[in-house]
Order: sequence, then C-alpha cells, then structure tokens
Amino acid sequence: MGRLRFWATNEAQWLTVPPSRLGSDAATGELKWRKWLKRRERRMSTQARSTTDLTYAVHRRPDPRSDAERATILADPGFGLHFTDHMVTATWTQGQGWHDGQVTAYGPITLMPAAAVLHYAQEIFEGLKAYRHEDGSVWGFRPQANAARLARSARRLALPEMSEADFVASLVALVQVDQAWVPPFGTGETSLYLRPFMYASEAFLGVRPARTVTYSVIASPAGAYFSGGLKPVTLWVSTDYARAGAGGTGAAKCGGNYASSLAGQLEGIEHGCDQAVFLDSATHTYVEELGGMNLFFVTKDGRLVTPELTGTILEGVTRASILELAKELGLDPDERRVSIEEWKDGARSGDIVEIFACGTAAVVTPVGELRWDGGSVDHRRDGADVGAVTQAIRQRLLDIQYGRAEDTFGWMTRLV
Ligand SMILES: Cc1ncc(COP(=O)(O)O)c(C=O)c1O
Repeated sequence: MGRLRFWATNEAQWLTVPPSRLGSDAATGELKWRKWLKRRERRMSTQARSTTDLTYAVHRRPDPRSDAERATILADPGFGLHFTDHMVTATWTQGQGWHDGQVTAYGPITLMPAAAVLHYAQEIFEGLKAYRHEDGSVWGFRPQANAARLARSARRLALPEMSEADFVASLVALVQVDQAWVPPFGTGETSLYLRPFMYASEAFLGVRPARTVTYSVIASPAGAYFSGGLKPVTLWVSTDYARAGAGGTGAAKCGGNYASSLAGQLEGIEHGCDQAVFLDSATHTYVEELGGMNLFFVTKDGRLVTPELTGTILEGVTRASILELAKELGLDPDERRVSIEEWKDGARSGDIVEIFACGTAAVVTPVGELRWDGGSVDHRRDGADVGAVTQAIRQRLLDIQYGRAEDTFGWMTRLV
C-alpha cells in the first residue's frame, strides 16, 4: 500500500498518514485521513492554548531614563519612535521548546550573519495597545485574539506556536516593569503600543524551518494617531501590485507581506494618496484591504459590509470587534466579496454612505476619496468628513478601551 505524506504547516513537520486512515469511510464517503488530520489539528491547538512553558526572569537595567526624560517623550510620543527601558526575550529550540524567558534592558540584538530570518524572512509579529484607565490600572484590548493570530501566523510560517498563557504573560511581564511608560489617563488617545515578534535566529543557510527561534516584545508609547482631529484618508487603487496571493501568506502577520505592500504604497503616494487599496491578485476585481488596515462600507440600507476572509486578508482584531459591535448599533454585519466596481458605483450613486478603515494603530479612520489610474470618486456628501456610523463605532471602541464604558463584551484584560 502507498504512503500518504504531507507537510503540516501547523506542526512544521512532515506527517505520514497511518495506513488505517487511508481510503474513505464506507458509510459517509468522507476521506478518512482528512478526519484524522482535523482531529489532530484540534488537539494540537488545544495544547497550544493551555500549555505554559515560560516564566520571565526580570533583570532591571541600572540606567533607566529619568522621570524628566520620560515625561518629555510622553508629552509628544508620536508613533513607533521611542521605546521603553526594557524588552522581553525567550528562546525556542527544537527538542527543548520554549525556555529562557527574560525581561532585560532594551537594546541591540546580536544575530549571526547567517541567521535564517535575514535570508528567508521566517518572521511574524503582532501589534496591540495597553491603555491606562482612570484608576491607574493598565489594560490590554483582546490580547487573547492576538495570541491566537500569532499562533495562526506561526503555523503558516513554520514557526513554533506560543501558548496564549505564555503570550499574555510576556505582555504582563514587560508592562509591569515599564508601567511608568503607559501614558496617563485623560491625555487623549495615547497608549503604550506593544510589539511582540518571533524570528528564525538559527545560523543556517539551508531552506527549512529554523531549529532555533527567538521571541521578543518591545513597547513604544504612542500619541493620538490624528493629532489635528480625524481626517479622512485618500486611497489609491493598486492594480499593478498585489499584497498577497492565493495560497500565500496574506492571512499571516509576517514581515514579508509588509515588504511586498511598499511598492504599491509608494505608487499611491506618488499619486497624492495616503495609502493603497489592494485587490485580489488573481482577477484584480475584489477589494482586499490596505497595507495595514481592514476596510468597511456602510450602505444606505443599514448594512456594514466588509471583504470576507479569503485567506489573503489579515483578520484584524479591530475588524472582528466591529462586526460584533454592529448589531448593538442597529447595523447588519455582512462579510462578503466587494468588487472595486461596486465601490465606485456605490460611491457615485449614494448606495455607499460611509467608508472607513480600521486597525489597532488608528482604531477607525474615515476614508474620503478613491483614486485610480484615470479617475476618482468620492462618496462624501454635504462636505461631512466623518460619517455618523464611523464616528459612533470609533467612539464606542475607544470608550471600551479606555474604560469609560462598561466592557460588556469582556474584551479587556488587566495587565497591571
Ligand atoms: C495588513 C493588515 N490588515 C489589517 C490590520 C488590522 O489588524 P488589527 O485590527 O488587529 O490591528 C493590520 C494591523 O495589524 C494589518 O497589518
């Protein structure tokens, strides 16, 4: 009897289907190996969720920034410019799993020039924020969802999974040590942006999943994304460049996706736009997302439409949360394919009344004009820059994140 072998990305290894699982079920006709694989995947992901491998030993730096230096930075932090005094690191090696969790001084990392990540881009990351509440406590928004996405990205990039418990504990460890870096409550839309990332640190030039992997978390105080008030963005339809393709890594949060979005971004900027909209790579027909945000359309008949997840779109935590919020706001959530022609026609006819982009960094960003090679369209009527639904969703999310409204969805996790 022949052997059936395949590469199981979620386990980062070749699997041989047991002989008893070859063939199909006589009663249902279902392929037996498919059922076997599904069960196995379920078991693996339950294990990934529940196992705790790591504790984080804290080594405080002797020379943290002074209160005055920190206060100067927090007065105008910008985005992604300044970093806190410490960072988290942990190591995974084949055979040993995750170990050596530490909180140490923020500083340069040492890598051999042969480190696999530098050659083959085996790297994934996450992005989420910690918010200061009025009583001084610090909270994360749905870190479990980021843990789950990191695990999905890890499976796709053949990196080791990290359990939800270890992931959340890494955030708690860093925010506890650097809690003074979380901007005070009541200073506008300020927060501490957390950037967990994982990369192939093994020095080996063969093309295979690395056997030594490093996980790290760094933190960066963030100011209001829109310092001069909410301003709609102008978008460029990128037809020459795609961000992701079928079977590729579009649904994973890996560095390569961002590298491949930059040429389209640049093209948009050359045409006077803020960001590029990427379409499906196969037909250049369907709207996918921006380089770093998901898209929503509000229709005249009260639907909240967003491109469905096809495997090439990143499943945003903000996107998922807005879909849950929709009903509360009396809107019908609708995940489906949206063609670029539907966008253009709907904006012209008034069937689409509001468009916004969403993501952790900017929360909810109104979209204004859409430009492409040879034309443009703007759905806004009466000069209103921010639609009522866009504004309401934005406000509702922010109120939950900053603890100004009851967290009826159970989205917030206390970090400190
Ligand atoms: C490509 C892409 N799409 C969507 C999002 C929005 O995701 P989230 O809401 O989890 O920040 C991001 C940001 O992380 C992104 O990089």
